[in-house]
Formats: sequence, C-alpha cells, structure tokens
Amino acid sequence: MKLGLIGNPIKHSLSPWIHTRLLNQANIAGSYELYEMEPGSFNEQISYLRKEGLDGFNVTVPFKQKIMTALDDIDEQARLLGAVNTVKNLDGKWIGYNTDGKGFLHSLRAKYPELSDKNIKALIIGAGGAAKGIYHTLKNETTGHIDIANRTSERAKEMMEAGAERENVRILTLQEAESRIADYDLIIQTTTVGMKPNVDQQIISLRNISEGTIVSDIVYQPLMTSFLKEAQAKGARIHQGHEMLLYQAVYAFEIWTGISVEESRLLKELEEQLK
Ligand code: ATR
Repeated sequence: MKLGLIGNPIKHSLSPWIHTRLLNQANIAGSYELYEMEPGSFNEQISYLRKEGLDGFNVTVPFKQKIMTALDDIDEQARLLGAVNTVKNLDGKWIGYNTDGKGFLHSLRAKYPELSDKNIKALIIGAGGAAKGIYHTLKNETTGHIDIANRTSERAKEMMEAGAERENVRILTLQEAESRIADYDLIIQTTTVGMKPNVDQQIISLRNISEGTIVSDIVYQPLMTSFLKEAQAKGARIHQGHEMLLYQAVYAFEIWTGISVEESRLLKELEEQLK
C-alpha cells in the first residue's frame, strides 16, 4: 500500500512515524512518503502526485483547502467545514475526508467517557484550520453551549457561520473568555500559542478555572504546554495534543484500509517519542 503526506513544511512531521507503525500493526506491506510541495506550482505537483498512484494520502498546512479543487468527491463533513486532511484513492477517483475533528473528539471521549454526555458547555480558543474541524464536530455531536474566542473576532464569526447553523454558539473576546473561564466543562486551546520555541506563552490565564474542568491543548510540542501546566495546577483534568494527532491518523488509516487499529500502545510510544 502506497501512502503519503503533502504539505509544506513537513520535514519534521510525525505522520510517517505513526503510519509506518499502523501499517505494521495491521500487517500490511506499504510505505508512507513525504511530498513537500511548493504552493506556487500546486497544479503541476498534483499531476505528478496522480501519476505516483498513491492509495491514499494526508494533507496538511497550507493545502487543506486548496486540495479540494483537485478532488473527484468530498465527504459531506469535510465539505461543510471546508478542509480536507485525508484523501483516499478509490479506483482512480480521489475522495476527500477530514478526520481532525473526529480524531479530536474521539480521543477526548476515550480518555473522559463522561464527555459522551452531549450537554456540555465548551469554549474553543482560536479560529484557524485546527479549530474548524473541532468546532464542526462539536457542533454536530454535542447539544450544549459553545463559545468561540479568537484574537481576531472576524475569523471566529466566519468559522461560526460556515456550514449548518446552530443555536447556543457565541463569539467572545479572549478577555471575556478569561473572565468566564469558571463556566466551562471543556476548554479547547487550538492556537499555536505556547508551541516550541515559545513555550512560556499562554493564550489566556486559567487562574479562575473550576476544579475538574477538562482542558485540552492541541499543541504537542511541548507535550505539557504552559496552558496545561496551569490547568493541572488548578485541579483541572487535561487532554494533550498528541492524543488528537494519533487519533486523526488512526481514522485516516481506517478510511484507507478499513482496519481499525488498537491505539493504546501506540499512544504510549508516541508520548515517549515526543518527550
Ligand atoms: P492554522 O490554519 O494552521 O491553524 P492559522 O489559521 O494561522 O493557522 O490559525 C492559528 C490560530 O492561532 C488563529 O486562531 C490565530 O488567531 P487569529 O485568527 O487572530 O490570527 C491564533 N494565534 C496565532 N498566534 C496568536 C497570538 N500571538 N495571539 C493570539 N492568537 C494567536
């Protein structure tokens, strides 16, 4: 089976590491190659990729939207949220999916099964590519209140207005979110703030957080961000970025192969890899 990743930059991607292990675990002979593409010659490189005859590939920054123009069909969820991270080659036709949001929510529920109760009050911080998948999945799979806080409120509004409408969604400033922080069951940090090398940066303070709140950060380098450290010190329960990273890969692998791999051992190995 021939798999790969397109994006730029991708040299340090962990996807080859993860998918090589998934292939091994599923007993499938195959490879997962990196295709670093230049945004300026996207079309030429897509033609090249077609000739490569991949069975499936992942798509990352900055091509998650652009790839949609090169696909034969797009799964409804991916179309609604306007981004594709997984492409399957089905008898020569490229079909696009998005496993980011599903990977996020399922990794969260695997760790905290009580979140399967749909009536949760959630705060999403950020409105970039990663936030979109998470927002749309939460919107579809939960019924409680969702607040979105982003530095640029216009982007939060765009994210909120894309796809099907839902009540109980509200836009806040970062300061407003900080002052209401005690209200939430679930807080999800989706921005790049706190990522290596800026490990001391933190998007908002969690000083007034309620004990037992679940706090998630999609940043996985470092594994323990300042945001998560403060959450833990305040008695909150945490969910780390590598958990989403692994699950979105597991779901992509399932789309390509039909095989759902048991991921708990791999999660531990990934944790070691990132330490
Ligand atoms: P991607 O699509 O890869 O997620 P992005 O679209 O640039 O990247 O989104 C990054 C997110 O991090 C956005 O929510 C961004 O806020 P803006 O929409 O206001 O740009 C947020 N972000 C990045 N750096 C930030 C900073 N220093 N302070 C606050 N938010 C920041």
